[in-house]
Amino acid sequence: MDTSPEILIKKACEARENAYSPYSSFKVGAALLCKDGSIYTGCNVENASYGATLCAERVALTKAISEGNRDFSAIAIVGSGDDYCYPCGMCRQVMAEHCTAEFKIILPLDGMETKITTLGKLLPCSFTKESMK
Ligand code: THU
Repeated sequence: MDTSPEILIKKACEARENAYSPYSSFKVGAALLCKDGSIYTGCNVENASYGATLCAERVALTKAISEGNRDFSAIAIVGSGDDYCYPCGMCRQVMAEHCTAEFKIILPLDGMETKITTLGKLLPCSFTKESMK
């Protein structure tokens, strides 16, 4: 990863400013690094019909894919609570569709050490298109 985690973290924090979260008041920002060096950001976008809510990570992934970019190396995710903002189960599953097990997940937290983990660690033994062969 040529792009430093700090750059992704800064972009994720900027994206978090745009969060639309009137129901939870929990803001999330994400910055997705593609293998060609481009970066797509996302924030959570809630809905009065709660199930229609989009997480920041899926917004970033969907923006990238919809623009033809499908090779990803890392994502930084920042929440607005007192703890690290790990991706939810649905986002992990969507990542498993488009990213390898080595895909890096960067989790900063104010005043704490940034955690860097991988999709393979957060979602082992995932169900993918390979599972249906
Ligand atoms: N949220 C995300 O954006 N990403 C996650 O991985 C966890 C949850 C959002 C969805 C919702 O708007 C709010 O956080 C509370 O669940």
